[in-house]
Amino acid sequence: MNTSEIRMIEDAYLARFYARKPITIVKGRGALVFDAEGREYVDCAGGYGTCIIGHAHPVVAEAIAQQAQKLISCHGSTYNDARAKLISKLTVILPTRFDRVFLSNSGTEAVECAIKLSRKSTGRRKIVAMKGGFHGKTYGSLSATWDSKYRKSFEPLVPDFVHIPFGNLEDAKTAISNDTAAVLVEPIQGEGGIRVPPPAWLPLLRDLTQDTGAQLVADEIQTGFGRTGRLFACEHFDITPDIMCLGKGIASGLPMAVTAANDRIMSSITVGEHSSTFGGNPIVCAAAEATINVLLEEHLVENAAKVGAYFKDQLLDLQKELRIIREVRGMGLMLGAEMRFDVHSILQKTLQNGVLMLDAGRNVLRFLPPLAIQHEHVDRVVSCLRSILVEEQLAKLPS
Ligand SMILES: Cc1ncc(COP(=O)(O)O)c(C=O)c1O
Repeated sequence: MNTSEIRMIEDAYLARFYARKPITIVKGRGALVFDAEGREYVDCAGGYGTCIIGHAHPVVAEAIAQQAQKLISCHGSTYNDARAKLISKLTVILPTRFDRVFLSNSGTEAVECAIKLSRKSTGRRKIVAMKGGFHGKTYGSLSATWDSKYRKSFEPLVPDFVHIPFGNLEDAKTAISNDTAAVLVEPIQGEGGIRVPPPAWLPLLRDLTQDTGAQLVADEIQTGFGRTGRLFACEHFDITPDIMCLGKGIASGLPMAVTAANDRIMSSITVGEHSSTFGGNPIVCAAAEATINVLLEEHLVENAAKVGAYFKDQLLDLQKELRIIREVRGMGLMLGAEMRFDVHSILQKTLQNGVLMLDAGRNVLRFLPPLAIQHEHVDRVVSCLRSILVEEQLAKLPS
């Protein structure tokens, strides 16, 4: 199929729920993707952060192919070898507090499970979430998501969710009390504009939740699996939450998510109260096990820290040159550059020049490349961005 046939079919029949980029991706390799005409792009979108170890990694491709020839479907009500292997691996890399996991298919499902666990295990209803937070778009997680553009058409949402300012110590002290079931937080906000909280804030949330009997739920769906230069972003702040939600890159882009908790919390939900038909199916488990192996064997978390620091330095240098950049934020390979203007036209121009990147809100450029990205790719991205931003600045901020 050529590009125009592909686009004609998708435009005719797919629900129009996505703002679509004028690119038809048909192939990927490492940190690069290719369109139907064979043009190459450096991928700083990484499938919205799902492509952690790089596109089409041969080890993962082989694991999927082998498992597909053996067994594709296997419900959670029966035992399975691929699932057991993945769980053994997860128990090694997750903080020791987490001795049980629930396997599902998407980030929003991992959050739904966390909300149900915290309400059931505490017997309380109130969930404290953050302004600017993003946790998904099904009803429970949407009730925790902040932006009204996602929420307003679907009200009434689930009751007893409150939102407090991200990073504010005083508001946290007021909001978290003896009737709080959970505090739900992204350690670094992604969709909200790549926002890193002050160092003392997450430890304070940890203390407040412990003191009030509430649970601290870390949504590491975007930050997890090495994205920020540590395996989990909570490590930067020296805290361990009560419940952790993981998703995106865990199975290299196949649908998988994990809700992790200790045995006591996880056992509060009894047989039949929560389930997911495809959750923990053998193909995604085989892909996830292979992904974790590659992540560790190829030292990609370390690469995210190293190349991420280089990338951030390059963006900070660019900020010194160009007034159009208001701020550069982030950790590891979860980076953002806040512009003084809407970034829509910048995204279109970088795409025309071989770089795929994301936004986070109206005026933030977001970079979530595969953790295998190399310095030379970063140089290409920054050089492309520099020439486009010079033009944008001339047009929008004439001196
Ligand atoms: C922090 C966070 N939580 C939850 C989600 C929802 O994940 P999904 O789109 O897989 O449902 C996302 C997706 O971007 C996310 O970034």
